[in-house]
Amino acid sequence: MAYFTLLLAVLHVHKAWCEVTFWDTAVQLSETMTLECVYPMMDNLTQVEWTKISGTETVKIIVYIPNYRMYIDPNYLHRVHFLNSSVGLHNMSLSFYNASEADIGTYSCLFNTFPNGLWEKKIKVVQSDSFEIAASSNGYLSAEPGQNVTLNCQLPRNWPVQQVMWEKVQPHQVDILASCNLSQGTRYTSKYLRTTWSKCSQESLQSVIIPNAMATDSGLYRCQSEASTGEKETFVVRLIITDGRTNKHFILPIAGGSVSLLLVILIIIIIIFYNRRRRRQVRTPLKEPRDKQSKVATNCRSPTSPIHSIDDEKEDIYVNYPTFSRRPKPRF
Ligand SMILES: *[C@@H]1O[C@H](CO)[C@@H](O)[C@H](O)[C@H]1NC(C)=O
Ligand SMILES: *[C@@H]1O[C@H](CO)[C@@H](O)[C@H](O)[C@H]1NC(C)=O
Ligand SMILES: *[C@@H]1O[C@H](CO)[C@@H](O)[C@H](O)[C@H]1NC(C)=O
Ligand SMILES: *[C@@H]1O[C@H](CO)[C@@H](O)[C@H](O)[C@H]1NC(C)=O
Ligand SMILES: *[C@@H]1O[C@H](CO)[C@@H](O)[C@H](O)[C@H]1NC(C)=O
Ligand SMILES: *[C@@H]1O[C@H](CO)[C@@H](O)[C@H](O)[C@H]1NC(C)=O
Repeated sequence: MAYFTLLLAVLHVHKAWCEVTFWDTAVQLSETMTLECVYPMMDNLTQVEWTKISGTETVKIIVYIPNYRMYIDPNYLHRVHFLNSSVGLHNMSLSFYNASEADIGTYSCLFNTFPNGLWEKKIKVVQSDSFEIAASSNGYLSAEPGQNVTLNCQLPRNWPVQQVMWEKVQPHQVDILASCNLSQGTRYTSKYLRTTWSKCSQESLQSVIIPNAMATDSGLYRCQSEASTGEKETFVVRLIITDGRTNKHFILPIAGGSVSLLLVILIIIIIIFYNRRRRRQVRTPLKEPRDKQSKVATNCRSPTSPIHSIDDEKEDIYVNYPTFSRRPKPRF
């Protein structure tokens, strides 16, 4: 069973990679799913379209011309809705009332704007388990709100990296944040709601920056890379944006795994260190009477190395040469 899940996960990852150019967001099929589509710029809409692409066939679901008219395909009339009121805000997210397996497929949300022209987001609806299951994290990163957070893809040393793709993985949705193919030198323009910074160059290929982090940026981020040899590596990091006020104890249970292991090691080290110090302190008073005795006995002993000189008879002999005759006294 576990093997099967793993296989599914691998298949999913593989498919995600291969279809990079074919979708911007993957959404888990659910009855009341919403396909998020928000145009990020401020220019004026002239027309918006939602279409479903199944194979070679495309079905127009909605065509909307602001302040003019709206066309809804009869098959979708009572099955989908979107906020007309928010059209001015460029939010054309499409929600389903009662989606079913028939709604699996790829959807396109196309904005026609003035003066920027066309902007398209492709959303793939898949029947899937929680996407987070397929993405167990390799590490944790915590940051405070307002910071510019840099996510680094940890790749094997000397990995001849060819291309890198960063995704945000939520249980119900996967969004591509950045994608870069070095040999083509092309950079993908993210349709994710949140702006992220990335460069498509050899030096900064592996990192993506989330500027001015917010609590909602917390979550899993997945980096998939491919070497020029064709080998693939996947790295997943969980980002935790502390809300500034909550104390750090809150993070520990979440961070779990590696962090608690580190903590346990740290505690063990402290205990060992503390015990050693105690043993040393315990040993010292035991010796002290002898030390004092010998001090009294020798009197002119150098005060610089009291413990040392007791254990090391040779040194005593040389150092305390003048009082050598009295030396054996303390030793019974
Ligand atoms: C958008 O439309 C409004 C009113 O129709 C107009 O005032 C504004 O200049 C337009 N903006 C652009 C970028 O064309
Ligand atoms: C959206 O607009 C269409 C057509 O203009 C209308 O039939 C529908 O009731 C509106 N929906 C909402 C939620 O306003
Ligand atoms: C866009 O509208 C949908 C509902 O149709 C809503 O759930 C979503 O939060 C909105 N997104 C933004 C960025 O306003
Ligand atoms: C949703 O659709 C299924 C069949 O596709 C139907 O059996 C069910 O009654 C519908 N539910 C609602 C709330 O419309
Ligand atoms: C984040 O980056 C921007 C642009 O480089 C810079 O202006 C800003 O000060 C940075 N913020 C922080 C908290 O470092
Ligand atoms: C990256 O670019 C190379 C060379 O053009 C090409 O062979 C390869 O298929 C590209 N990879 C993707 C995922 O597009």
